[in-house]
Amino acid sequence: MARFTLPRDIYHGKGALEELKNFKGKKAVICVGGGSMKRFGFLERAETYLKKAGMEVKLIEGIEPDPSVETVMKGAKIMQEFGPDWIVAIGGGSPIDAAKAMWIKYEYPDTTFEDMCKVFGLPKLRTKAHFCAVSSTSGTATEVTAFSIITDYEKGIKYPIADFEITPDVAIVDPELAETMPKKLVAHTGMDAMTHAIEAYVSTANCDYTDALAIHAIEMIQKDLVGSYKGDMVKRDKMHNAQCLAGMAFSNALLGIVHSMAHKTGAAFDDYGAHIIHGAANAMYLPKVIAFNAKDPDAKERYGIIADYMHLGGDSLTEKVQLLIKYLRKMNDDLNIPHSINRYGKDGLPAEEGFVPEEVFLERLPEIAKNAIADACTLSNPRKPTQAEMEKLLKCCYYDTEVDF
Ligand SMILES: NC(=O)c1ccc[n+]([C@@H]2O[C@H](COP(=O)([O-])OP(=O)(O)OC[C@H]3O[C@@H](n4cnc5c(N)ncnc54)[C@H](O)[C@@H]3O)[C@@H](O)[C@H]2O)c1
Ligand SMILES: [Zn+2]
Repeated sequence: MARFTLPRDIYHGKGALEELKNFKGKKAVICVGGGSMKRFGFLERAETYLKKAGMEVKLIEGIEPDPSVETVMKGAKIMQEFGPDWIVAIGGGSPIDAAKAMWIKYEYPDTTFEDMCKVFGLPKLRTKAHFCAVSSTSGTATEVTAFSIITDYEKGIKYPIADFEITPDVAIVDPELAETMPKKLVAHTGMDAMTHAIEAYVSTANCDYTDALAIHAIEMIQKDLVGSYKGDMVKRDKMHNAQCLAGMAFSNALLGIVHSMAHKTGAAFDDYGAHIIHGAANAMYLPKVIAFNAKDPDAKERYGIIADYMHLGGDSLTEKVQLLIKYLRKMNDDLNIPHSINRYGKDGLPAEEGFVPEEVFLERLPEIAKNAIADACTLSNPRKPTQAEMEKLLKCCYYDTEVDF
């Protein structure tokens, strides 16, 4: 038996934000990030619509990218004092994920962050509030997923909270919000979406329902991402749907070790100057992980099917997998994303010398590999890496060397 869960309502297309006008409730809290939603007028519009619906509205502003446990706890306290019956999160993956975790703490004030991280172990939510997510980036699809990613900065580790309880009640997928994304964000979030779709398709938890969504998302992303990056707004709008389809797939089929590795490297080198941005980490690791996973016959077959849907050619399965890897690397080039950590420079752009020094990487490698194996996403990866294999794989991601094991 398997379960397939999505938000009850997904409002999509231009102008979908206006649906907030029809919400029923007394009090709504709006959770939002550092300023882009305010700058482009979307926050004000959301607030106005909710007020038109007769609700008292409070804002929780300034949620940082890759939100921290502290931000979650602070926001939950505001919710406890205000008592909303709607939580509306608007922005990229960061404010929406933070709001999901705040929601848990709001409904169950005694819950600790550790409790939240027990996979599929959350108590029933919706005893106090319902949740609406309005996405402004085309990547994480957190508006439809059962996940929230919160960073423990003391440990330098990102933790996924995973439970269908935090799948939003309502998702609003309005492409107008994504049109203001800067190029770099389009590239990173777009490759995040591609990784979601491919990992979901080869996950051990895949099923007929998720396969259809994943494959269609892959085809759309292949067709639209690079054009969207170059400024084609029709393709930009399409990408907003494509990433959402990928999200519906992976929320139910789960992910794999590309995400385990991205979660555990993302904040691991913050003391050396920068985060490895989630989507960029995925884009760099995905080709390496495909080469590693393709040693599993079922996964290899599935990568071959993906290559066929993408019309990449190739006579044998081995050739198809190679062509898929080559195609994804070319996408990284087109999107100005580096191929490896040692070339990962400022703002996630390719650089002669990346910001993570070799000796620091090697010193931290065993711990990062151990944490990546323990990440919840490893459970549904088609091939189970040992500690030694994970270390080797991460080294290939650092040096951009071939995966031949
Ligand atoms: N919950 C999930 O299922 C899931 C899946 C993948 C990733 N994640 C997590 O989501 C986070 C990343 O989210 P993200 O990639 O959406 O970015 P983000 O939310 O961190 O936003 C990045 C930056 O882009 C700006 N921004 C957002 N929308 C914009 C717009 N339309 N125009 C201009 N600027 C805009 C923000 O203000 C911010 O400065 C990471 O923490 C990642 O681990 C979650
Ligand atoms: Zn992701």
